[in-house]
Amino acid sequence: MAAVFPVVAVVGLGTMGAGIAEITARSGRRVIGVELDATAAAAALHRIEESTAHSVERARMTAEERAGLLSRITVTHELSAAAEAQLVIEEIPEQLELKQELFAELDRICPAGTVLATGTTALSVTRIAAATQRPERVVGLHFFNPAPVMQLVEVVRTVLTSAEVAEAADAFTRGLGKSPVSAGDRAGFIVNGLLFAYLNQAAAMFESRYATREDIDAAMRLGCGLPMGPLALLDLIGVDTAKTVLEAMYAQSHDRLHAPAPILGQLASAGLLGRKTGRGFYRYAAPGSSQVL
Ligand code: 3HC
Repeated sequence: MAAVFPVVAVVGLGTMGAGIAEITARSGRRVIGVELDATAAAAALHRIEESTAHSVERARMTAEERAGLLSRITVTHELSAAAEAQLVIEEIPEQLELKQELFAELDRICPAGTVLATGTTALSVTRIAAATQRPERVVGLHFFNPAPVMQLVEVVRTVLTSAEVAEAADAFTRGLGKSPVSAGDRAGFIVNGLLFAYLNQAAAMFESRYATREDIDAAMRLGCGLPMGPLALLDLIGVDTAKTVLEAMYAQSHDRLHAPAPILGQLASAGLLGRKTGRGFYRYAAPGSSQVL
């Protein structure tokens, strides 16, 4: 049976975009990565090369399969290249106006049948869809970090998303080896709706000097059986991303649990964004490294 969406464009090759490009190419699909920033594009390709080399080392794929995977990914700064895809996944920063502009542009560029998916975590999919003339073909596809590893994808339907598009998005994620869940269009969807108040409270607890970062993280790992503590997870997600997500959720929910803890703003202003910059709540061996010093 032919794969759903044999050609997929990923617009924005940051941490999430690069991971999604990798797993999509791994599923046998051709991937067109669109990234305006040349440094970010090079970093994304480097990350995919490293991650797939690790998979070969772990005997999860052969060297030939890796070569095939890498050959299926092309990276360009031309958005018009997305017109070749049947599915476009947007992974650009969490700013509504930016996403609306991009979707209006994609709507002009792409054939009428192309499905446009947003990777937003906390913005309204409906408002993003409203920037297009095809809101019934717009859906949310929310992957989790690190995308090559995490099993879940939230498939987000608006009131206008057609059943056919939601089903195709669902089948696409299953084809990537993921387990989709279906959610309506509400800030944070299922996971972040529950997770981010907790992460925010952990940052506030650390900020109040109630406990050390190590003890906060150890408590949640060892007391609740979580794979990592909240401050380590904030570093993985990115302090700037977490702050932006919380701001967007707070703007929609007006729930004070989502009002970003001041320390998130301070770390973000200082460029201490977590693993990706080599320092956040913790210090790492190098930017992008998971090794805590
Ligand atoms: N890319 C590719 N593979 C990765 C990776 C990455 N960024 N990070 C880890 N891995 C792989 C490792 O290579 C390793 O594979 P191997 O067994 O073949 O060597 C495997 O994952 C396990 O990694 P580690 O042994 O280094 O460490 P852990 O066992 O602690 O697992 C973890 C790492 C998967 C990140 C785990 O700690 C975890 O599940 N943490 C929670 C992550 C989480 O909650 N993510 C959701 C964040 S919220 C979100 O994304 C929403 C967004 O909107 C903000």
